[in-house]
Amino acid sequence: MAETETLTSEQAWSIEPSDFPRNGSSRDVLAFLVRYAVLAPSGHNTQPWRFVLSDDHVDIVADTSRALHMVDPHDREMTMSCAAAAETMFAALRAFGLTGALTPLPVAQAPDVVARVTLSPQPAGGAEDYEMLDAIASRRTVRRPYADTPVPPGMQTLMREAARPFGVELSLFEDTAVKDAVAELVVDADHIQFADPAFRDELAAWMHPLTSPAGDGLAGPGFGFPDWATRVAATLFRMFDLGSAVARMDKPNVLGAPLLGVFSTPGDTRADWVATGRALAAVLHVVTMHGLVNAFLNQPIEVTTIRPKLAELGCPGRTPQLLSRFGYLKEGIAMPPHAARRRLDEVLIAA
Ligand SMILES: Cc1cc2nc3c(=O)[nH]c(=O)nc-3n(C[C@H](O)[C@H](O)[C@H](O)COP(=O)(O)O)c2cc1C
Repeated sequence: MAETETLTSEQAWSIEPSDFPRNGSSRDVLAFLVRYAVLAPSGHNTQPWRFVLSDDHVDIVADTSRALHMVDPHDREMTMSCAAAAETMFAALRAFGLTGALTPLPVAQAPDVVARVTLSPQPAGGAEDYEMLDAIASRRTVRRPYADTPVPPGMQTLMREAARPFGVELSLFEDTAVKDAVAELVVDADHIQFADPAFRDELAAWMHPLTSPAGDGLAGPGFGFPDWATRVAATLFRMFDLGSAVARMDKPNVLGAPLLGVFSTPGDTRADWVATGRALAAVLHVVTMHGLVNAFLNQPIEVTTIRPKLAELGCPGRTPQLLSRFGYLKEGIAMPPHAARRRLDEVLIAA
């Protein structure tokens, strides 16, 4: 694929591994790998990234024009989103049998450069890992009810081990008492966030129907609503404090999840955020390969007064960065469609 070729939102999710430019230049290969990178999750589906393409590497740069000033005032989640995209690209690189490196925060004086993915000059040698490529392209956030089927202990070990190389702990909870306590924190945080008109305005501004040409944002189908309801919901969020209604939807999802997970780091620096984004991508790839799904419940971390309470509960002595539920989609509930993606030519830039 030429690096300038554009893709529609739906095409973004159906990558043919056989299109990999095996005889192409390093630039062609790196540009192809960016197609996988953009499938990473991002806060409010802002896709706050730019991929700056050089001959042997791609810099993943935070696009601060897409910052979420209300929900993410320090660009913590933005950094995690970019790091998840970088790790996804690096996973795809290895899955095509290539070798390379991922350097976090490679330019000391430019913290917006979240990571650099470098391709080694050796020709592709290893076998393709189609399972990984398929996991990247089938992953999605599933904000629907989960079955009460427990997540096997061996699977939980795989999840923890996927996070650990990055210095990130994934603490997992099945215990009802912990779920009750977490549900209370989620409910409290929902009330605080939705009471703030600026938070609601920001959320509404990022609610776009799946059919919107923007190729970003949150759409009704991702929440179990029809696409046409997206704009109606955005208007309602803007006008009214629907915190109680949101909390009523979130609470059973927390209590009914077979497994809750807290990603935590030793500190709360940019390096910790990059590590968390990478760990998130790695965990979600493993989870997807095994038929599990996840959805985020980050509000107790986003509300600064509640974050220490979640730390005490889920990761004493450490800093919580992400809260997620994991499980298997409940029988009879449809898998939501993939979220929109921006066109590749909007995010892929020649150095
Ligand atoms: C750092 C980060 C924070 C997120 N926070 C939330 C959240 O609090 N609530 C939620 O429902 N989804 C959250 N998400 C999920 C995004 O909304 C989702 O990734 C995005 O809409 C794209 O959809 P996809 O994951 O299905 O590709 C978060 C994702 C990331 C990477």
